[in-house]
Amino acid sequence: MITRNFFLFLSQNKFMKGRAMKWGPKFGAKSVIAGETIQEAIDTVRKLNEKGLSATVDHLGEFVYSREEAIESADYCIRTLEAISEAGVDCNLSLKLTQLGLDVDRELCLSNMKRILEVAKADNNFVRIDMEDYSHLDATLSLLAELRESYDNVGTAIQGYLFRASEDIDKLKGMNLRLIKGAYKESPAHAYQKQEDVDRNYVSIIKQHMLNGSYAAVATHDHNVIAEIKKFAAENDIPVDKFEFQMLYGFRTDMQADIRSEGYKMRVYVPFGNDWYGYFMRRLAERPQNVAFAVRGLLSK
Ligand code: FDA
Repeated sequence: MITRNFFLFLSQNKFMKGRAMKWGPKFGAKSVIAGETIQEAIDTVRKLNEKGLSATVDHLGEFVYSREEAIESADYCIRTLEAISEAGVDCNLSLKLTQLGLDVDRELCLSNMKRILEVAKADNNFVRIDMEDYSHLDATLSLLAELRESYDNVGTAIQGYLFRASEDIDKLKGMNLRLIKGAYKESPAHAYQKQEDVDRNYVSIIKQHMLNGSYAAVATHDHNVIAEIKKFAAENDIPVDKFEFQMLYGFRTDMQADIRSEGYKMRVYVPFGNDWYGYFMRRLAERPQNVAFAVRGLLSK
């Protein structure tokens, strides 16, 4: 737990971020980040597609504090969607609302999202809003509700560690949702703290959403959860085109291939860009064994 909290602390530490960014994405991050440019991300996606894996790309970046940066981020998302369409790859887009100015001006963030969704709609593509920390949850869901009045090619992610996850799942019936355990450090006032409680609630919300007849993207590296959901789908006659599994790029790649070869849809979340620090620290917090990546990266400098 100390290790987890340590890396979550580092994920928000500006001084350490500055230091790490100077080193560049060595430091182990390379094996879980698909390069810095759109072209590198597309090349990675193409390789995944060749193995039968779908993808979603995420241009890394969060906590934008100026209008200019928020507009720039939205423009970059649009360029990424255009590159996906030109390359003809099987890939959608994941993004964070704080990248698009949620903390700067809600209306600006809304208009940035609308610009992005127009382009995605023209290309018949889908955009997933990643879920950030608890302080952004209500703002994210309210913006999503407004977007859903005009667009059906947008969804979000719900975190199983939150007490209110089941209520939110009910309100979002019918929507394509990514279901996750949750990656941020949250207070005991809102979130389960014990792993076994998180796991239990996580499995429960996945089943709830699947039984609603809604499309579920089950995003986890946890083999126990994956096995349980495969069994649950079979027992409840839920067809394989009503759900998919998702994992992060560079994690459990053998299992990704196995899941696909069993006939399930498997989507890989492919992060790219030079703002990799927060993302990488959250991955270290989840699985301290990943520190081995970091050490290897440092030694190979
Ligand atoms: P967890 O880390 O709890 O692992 C469970 C068990 O699985 C481990 O004990 C181990 O046995 C095994 N295991 C896990 N990783 C392994 C590995 N690499 N190798 C071998 N065994 C391994 N979070 C968020 O808050 N907002 C978001 O929008 C997203 N988006 C998102 C998208 C995708 C595609 C994924 C996969 C994850 C996210 N997350 C996220 C992160 C998510 O909330 C969660 O923090 C991580 O996925 C870690 O939890 P897991 O469910 O993967 O299993």
